Amino acid sequence: MTASESNPAHFLGVAIVAAREAGAIIAAAMDRPKTISYKGEVDLVTETDKKSEAAILQRLRSEFPAHAIVAEEGGATGADASAEYQWYVDPLDGTTNFAHGYPVFAVSLGLLQRGEPLVGAIYNPVSKEMFTAICGQGAYRNGSSIHVSAVSKLSQSLLATGFPTHKRVQNPNIHYYWEFTLHSHGVRRAGAAALDLCSVACGQFEGFWEFGLKSWDTAAGILLVQEAGGKVSNFSGGPYRPGDFECLASNGLVHEQMQKLALSVGKRGNQQRPKF
Ligand code: IPD
Ligand code: CA
Ligand code: CA
Repeated sequence: MTASESNPAHFLGVAIVAAREAGAIIAAAMDRPKTISYKGEVDLVTETDKKSEAAILQRLRSEFPAHAIVAEEGGATGADASAEYQWYVDPLDGTTNFAHGYPVFAVSLGLLQRGEPLVGAIYNPVSKEMFTAICGQGAYRNGSSIHVSAVSKLSQSLLATGFPTHKRVQNPNIHYYWEFTLHSHGVRRAGAAALDLCSVACGQFEGFWEFGLKSWDTAAGILLVQEAGGKVSNFSGGPYRPGDFECLASNGLVHEQMQKLALSVGKRGNQQRPKF
């Protein structure tokens, strides 16, 4: 194995190139009519998702033929628990926004080494912000170090969440949305989980939660949050791994308060509205 074949900085460099290439494809299509098809009731996919994915896969495969890759649109389905290196690729996070011309979407590439997040790159082609992280080396936006916020009270926090595109009626999140809204400065629902996690990492949001996110939604973003000094877990405070059902990410300071509130909603059951 050559030095570059195990060098996280090299992995990140390639992820940045791939994210920029994909970002250029998305930016070029932004103001054009979209060809939309449906993977589910409100689960949209456009030609641009597929083109973006194809470009990323070409780049990753030519640079890292031995790495396993999973990509959302199915161009790569190589989930391999025994793989030394496993990429998770979201070629366009925020497809619904993109399809409607709402300018909040991103490209997300996360690399795990033996199951642990090693490298993350998230590129916003509208703001041209590139968020990057390598495990143990901090988190960055366009090369400048970023950090989570210092707000320590949930009541003074700005939060974010999202809602799934599959099995919406079975998802309990509306009850959590209600409760968190009434106990914070508010809850944003911007529609791109990778960018929500970047916003926690750079201190715009104190916390984020969502149910049912996929591995490609969070593999890069959770590393950004952790490397920016924040915390990621499930609602009980246990470890969160990309693809787990519950994701709770915060600046660390409001984590327990969010956990407590989330657990209280969970105990009441999904169908019962909170009372105040
Ligand atoms: C979606 C976005 C959204 C989240 C959904 C995801 P997609 O990803 O991240 O914010 O709420 O759960 O599926 O489909 O636009 O890549
Ligand atoms: Ca996504
Ligand atoms: Ca996507």
